[in-house]
Amino acid sequence: MSKIKDSALAGQGRKLLDWAQGNMPVLATVRSRFEKEKPLAGLKIGVALHFEKKTGVLIETLAAGGADITISSCNPLTTDDSVAAALSDKMNVYAWTGQTKTEYYNCLDEVIASKPNITIDDGCDLIHLLHTKYTEKLSTVIGSCEETTTGIVRLKAMEKDGVLKVPVMAVNNAYSKHLFDNRYGTGQCVIEGILNATNILIAGKTAVVVGYGWCGRGIADRLKGLGARVIVVEIAGSIAEGPSGYHRALEAMYDGFSVMSMTDAAPLGDLFITATGNKHVISVDHIQHMKDGAMLANSGHFNQEIDVDGLEKIGKKKEVITNVAQYELGNGRNIIVLADGRLVNLAQPTGQGHPIEIMDGSFGVQALCVEYLAKNGTNMKAGVFDVPESIDCEVAKIALESQGIQLEAPTEAQINYSESWEEGT
Ligand code: NAI
Repeated sequence: MSKIKDSALAGQGRKLLDWAQGNMPVLATVRSRFEKEKPLAGLKIGVALHFEKKTGVLIETLAAGGADITISSCNPLTTDDSVAAALSDKMNVYAWTGQTKTEYYNCLDEVIASKPNITIDDGCDLIHLLHTKYTEKLSTVIGSCEETTTGIVRLKAMEKDGVLKVPVMAVNNAYSKHLFDNRYGTGQCVIEGILNATNILIAGKTAVVVGYGWCGRGIADRLKGLGARVIVVEIAGSIAEGPSGYHRALEAMYDGFSVMSMTDAAPLGDLFITATGNKHVISVDHIQHMKDGAMLANSGHFNQEIDVDGLEKIGKKKEVITNVAQYELGNGRNIIVLADGRLVNLAQPTGQGHPIEIMDGSFGVQALCVEYLAKNGTNMKAGVFDVPESIDCEVAKIALESQGIQLEAPTEAQINYSESWEEGT
């Protein structure tokens, strides 16, 4: 398995890591404690995360805690090769951008071959492999952390079917993660990824956001701010945890957006962005009804949201520029697909991923959850666990205090009042 060994590239990666680190006060606080206490000494950690500068800062924080780390990416297109090169001398790095599917899985195999005690996933691929192809390696695993919505959906399905054999911390479900990462982080960087790849103008365009969950809300809000006419598409009924598609559609309407079905939105949109965690939410049939030049981008975890395989069958593909492909449909119409339908905000080299401050919060939760598993994992049952409130609040508190904001504690009378059922006269 090849690693990236290139000193010029590594130097560039080091600069990116240092820049990110300087803007990540939560991880800096955790790191200085980890350096003293070494809570992860003697532990092997296997990681599959989008591998770019902010991830690098998390990995160096875990290494400062004494962990021995093996890392791959959780997506074939999202490794920043310079960051991979910068870290490859210090730890086992199996990641580069532009991998084939086979190379991608070979890299995950290498992570599992390192016999990790704790795994960190974004999308559940490591845990899934450990429960299918490598069950004999499960015995050394104390626990795992999962970064994203789709991973948690998969883990809960495993738990429901009684096949999940390790405790997993649902990092995504911490407020310090999804309130900010999925909404403001994805909201900003999905637009940034699209603009970096295409250099188009958003103002005046009709943009269709498919899915009005945490990510979709952020994306729709940012598109509105840039002057797009925004249409939101939701689904009838409950398909995700939390409010149903009906409620989310109503919320979008009250937030001031047009709301309709995908069938109705297909002929209207100039730009379509999927954010559902679901499959084929833009189907070939929808694409057949789109305008000439319609542009499709995905921000959901897997490259299943847009039926790109189906599009390949009906259209002639031409790579126009990096991460921009044009499909000629044969009737004078062209459809543009960004980043092969993979996460547009993270696809290298045009996607830089989430803003640094946002990932500071998400990865602050990750680092503290790894420490929690190191202390408690062997006494925990198999299952999906919420992040303890103490960790969630600590991360938000450090993030606020790093901005010079100190909140006042509630008085005893206020605490009693908030817990009382007496009349409030
Ligand atoms: P969520 O569960 O809050 O929202 C998903 C929404 O999609 C729900 O409102 C659901 O009703 C809707 N939906 C499902 N199927 C649909 C369909 N066929 N048509 C229209 N709407 C449909 O999930 P969240 O947190 O917003 O995450 C969405 C996806 O984005 C997941 O795959 C998650 O893993 C991924 N994600 C990606 C990030 C990135 O960096 N691009 C960051 C965070 C999450």
